[in-house]
Amino acid sequence: MKGIILAGGKGTRLYPSTAVVSKQLLPIYDKPLIYYPLSVLLLAGIREILVISTPQDTPNYKRLLGDGERLGLNIQYAVQETPRGLADAFILGADFIGEDSVCLVLGDNVFYGQGLTLYLRNAQEQIKNGGASIFGYPVGNPREFGVVEFDENNKVISIEEKPARPKSNYAVPGLYFYDPHVVDIARKVEPSPRGEIEITAVNNAYLAEGSLNVTLLGRGVAWLDTGSPKGMLKASQFVQTVQDMQGFYISCIEEIAWRRGFISTEQLHRLGEELSMTAYGQYILSLSEDIL
Ligand code: DAU
Repeated sequence: MKGIILAGGKGTRLYPSTAVVSKQLLPIYDKPLIYYPLSVLLLAGIREILVISTPQDTPNYKRLLGDGERLGLNIQYAVQETPRGLADAFILGADFIGEDSVCLVLGDNVFYGQGLTLYLRNAQEQIKNGGASIFGYPVGNPREFGVVEFDENNKVISIEEKPARPKSNYAVPGLYFYDPHVVDIARKVEPSPRGEIEITAVNNAYLAEGSLNVTLLGRGVAWLDTGSPKGMLKASQFVQTVQDMQGFYISCIEEIAWRRGFISTEQLHRLGEELSMTAYGQYILSLSEDIL
């Protein structure tokens, strides 16, 4: 399975902080925002990753993540000239996806929780023979998201993008699993009234085919909002609190690459040494020194 991180957009809701730097490069507590969605792909065991961003920001992502070899990954890049919509990820990524299934994660979505790896594994399993797998998560402000509509038997009957009158409080988080057919589906999507080729249209196409799986995430998984300065601050405070209390880091990509067996303990140690002046680097060193 391939992975795509969509990390473009204008970031207007965070101006002036994002006037000259991409939102997904801003920190959530102690690491760039993009580390969080990247860690989700690594947890899913995905090593071939395409990062899509704007013409201005793509060079910065290349400087930050390189070709991924240091983490045992293969990271490629694609430029999105204008923010045409989330479904554009599959059109820009068509050659990269090829005949594989693909997981798309939005570059500003933060997930954390014990059950997460199991949800990721199940979603991959669900689409083994085709189809799509997405999630539903209860929120207080469903108007700001794609929203799942259920019938009286809890069967999903539609997904609506930012509905004025949401039919449930289950939002669709920015984490989607698709079979390779998604490229053709995305190419057929017409722009919505807001002028974007919507991921919701892609999901509704799978729903119409009868091949959309929607899994409701339980309270064990946190999906954090980064859509406003307040959301960014709260997410930072959440990460700080969990890391300080538990001693385990959230979305330390070096740790996950090591635990997944993408890099050796020696490689992990070297990555820790490079960052040894920070608590983040010391954490990596402590992991490798326990083992070495
Ligand atoms: O976060 C989950 C929500 O993401 C879903 O519930 C919605 O169904 C989905 O449409 C999307 O809604 P948003 O309004 O939050 O999407 P936004 O336009 O903010 O874009 C999400 C991220 O993707 C953001 O970091 C910018 C980036 N982006 C967006 C577009 C439209 C791109 O890189 N390229 C684009 O063309």
